[in-house]
Amino acid sequence: MADVEVARTGAVLELTLNRPAKKNALTNAMYRALNVALHEAEREQAIGAVLIAGAGGVFTAGNDIGDFVAAVAGGGEMAGADFIRKIAAFPKPLVAAVDGLAVGVGCTLLLHCDLIYATAQSRFSLPFVDLGLLPEAGSSLLLPRRVGMARASAWLLAGESFSAEEAREAGLANAVVAPEALLATAREKAAALAAKPRTALMAARKFMRGERDEILARIDAELEAFRKALASPEAQAALTAFLNKGK
Ligand code: COA
Repeated sequence: MADVEVARTGAVLELTLNRPAKKNALTNAMYRALNVALHEAEREQAIGAVLIAGAGGVFTAGNDIGDFVAAVAGGGEMAGADFIRKIAAFPKPLVAAVDGLAVGVGCTLLLHCDLIYATAQSRFSLPFVDLGLLPEAGSSLLLPRRVGMARASAWLLAGESFSAEEAREAGLANAVVAPEALLATAREKAAALAAKPRTALMAARKFMRGERDEILARIDAELEAFRKALASPEAQAALTAFLNKGK
C-alpha cells in the first residue's frame, strides 16, 4: 500500500494519507506524491474536485519530524514547501475529511480547503511555537482572518489544541459528522462541487479565497523564517527530544 493512495471516483480525485503506523506523518516522498496528484488534478479536465482524507482514524500528525531534522542536517529537501505552495494556488475545489489527529500542516492545509468535515473524535493542534517553529502555509495570515485573533492566538501561540466542535463553531469546519458517515458525506459534497458549472465555481472560489499573491508572498516569508527556526537550537532540541522519546 502506498503512503498516499490516489483514487478516482467520477470527477473526484481522492487522496488518502496512509501511513497509520506513523500517524500519517508526512514524509518528503508523501509530499512529492501529493504534488504529482494535485498537478494531475489541476491539468485533467475530467477532475472537478479533490478530496483529502486520512486512513486509520488519523488525519495526519503533520510533517515527519525525522525529515525535518534530516533537512537541516543535510541542508536538504523540504518537499512540504512545494506542497504548501501548490495547495494554496490550487484552482479547483478541495474537500477535507478529518477523522482523528490533525496536527501542524494537517491543520494549516485545511485553510486552503473549501469544505471540511470532521468527526467528534478529531483533535486539531498547531504546536509550531512549542517546537521552536513558526506557523506555515499562510496560517499566520489566514487563521486570524478565518477564526479571529483571539482563537488564532490561543491555537497558534499558546498551542491549545481544539475539538471538531470548536473548529465548527469557529468557522473552520463545516460540520461534525459521525465516523461511519464521514467519507460518504465528504464524497457526496465533493461530487456535488465537481458537478457545478466549472468556470463559475472556480472564479467564485478565486474571489472568495482573497488575493492569491498576498497569500503566496506570506507563505514564502513564513517558509524563510521557518527554515531559520528549524535550524535553531530550540527547535533542534524539541525535535530531537521527540525522536528520542521512549529511547
Ligand atoms: N513525525 C514522525 N513520526 C511521528 C510523527 C511525526 N510528526 N507523529 C507521530 N510519529 C510516530 C511516532 O514517533 C511513533 O513512532 P514509533 O511507533 O516508531 O515510536 C508513531 O508515529 C506513533 O506515534 P505515538 O507518538 O506513539 O502516538 P501517540 O498517540 O502517543 O501520539 C501524537 C500521537 C501525534 C500526539 C504524537 O505522535 C506527536 O506529538 N507527534 C508529533 C506531532 C508534531 O509535532 N508534528 C509536527 C508539527 S510541525
